[in-house]
Amino acid sequence: MIAIEETARKKIEVPSHPQWPTLSDEEKTALKERIKKLLKERNAVLVAHYYVDGDLQALAEETGGCVADSLEMARYGTTTDADTLVVCGVRFMGETSKILNPEKRVLMPDLEATCSLDEGCPADEFTEFCDAHPDRTVVVYANTSAEVKARADWMVTSSIALPIVKHLAARGEKVLWAPDRHLGHYIQRQTGADVLLWQGSCVVHEEFKSFALERLRRLHPDAAVLVHPESPEEVIEQADVVGSTTALIKAVRELPNQEFIVATDEGIFWKMQQMAGNKKLLIAPTAGEGATCVSCGHCPWMAMNALQNLERVLVEGDNEILIDEEIRRRAVTPIQRMLDFAREHGIGTASRR
Ligand code: 13P
Ligand code: SF4
Repeated sequence: MIAIEETARKKIEVPSHPQWPTLSDEEKTALKERIKKLLKERNAVLVAHYYVDGDLQALAEETGGCVADSLEMARYGTTTDADTLVVCGVRFMGETSKILNPEKRVLMPDLEATCSLDEGCPADEFTEFCDAHPDRTVVVYANTSAEVKARADWMVTSSIALPIVKHLAARGEKVLWAPDRHLGHYIQRQTGADVLLWQGSCVVHEEFKSFALERLRRLHPDAAVLVHPESPEEVIEQADVVGSTTALIKAVRELPNQEFIVATDEGIFWKMQQMAGNKKLLIAPTAGEGATCVSCGHCPWMAMNALQNLERVLVEGDNEILIDEEIRRRAVTPIQRMLDFAREHGIGTASRR
């Protein structure tokens, strides 16, 4: 097992959370009705991530769209007859949808909604890194640009990263992993694979603090601790369940515990509450030694999605995801490889209703 840390860590500009005007119940209902009408007129469907605002998740479900993790979001677009996919999430999710569905129109409420992992892995530097290690199989996390995917052998999401790297290690392949260093370390510890890591991180998960978590666990000794593997190792070590957003939602539904401490974006509480409304959910602490609380348990880019700009993009039809055809053609291979692997191994079931 080898982990060489070679790349420099990048400073990412993190925007503040947007402040959306509060809507009265009547205003919200009217807005949702207008969006439903527009979705029908445009033959469009909503594809939403668990971290976006609960109103958007509810609307996606009410209108026959999809609320899911990144694996299922990628797959969903290929299964619907809709002409337009409106992706409520962050840019890499819209790009993945477009790469897999070039004939469909892919819109997003805000094209500025990016991800610190994507921002921290520029394609030119990543290409140099890969070129310097031609003996390694290049595995990239979904949270990357189309250009980075175009340079990869495999794309993975957190739902499927472990079995894929295990499969590669069993074939004797050495892995170059990018961009999330915490997830990469976790995968390496779990599989024993030979992994070379890019040094990216998620600004939300990296803020969860292990000492403060220990304190909170002492205050809630019966709570199960659920951790997304983008979190630091000392936080993962305290987990009862480590997994993708879908795996964490499943844990809330299936474990007998009545209390949960959750180390992932708090947008996920909407679905968890829907699945098990009587259970108590606590966000894992982001305060403590070294705390900056810039994102404070909620992704500022996911927060750029709201009912207001969803309506606007449906009216205007702008904010379309466009990808150079040559890049798209190369990027589709690692994604399709993952989807084929998922199908062959029966991996990935969303908690969609
Ligand atoms: P999932 O694939 O687990 O939904 O995670 C996506 C993500 O961006 C987590 O921060
Ligand atoms: Fe990226 Fe982290 Fe936001 Fe997920 S929560 S989109 S990994 S910045």
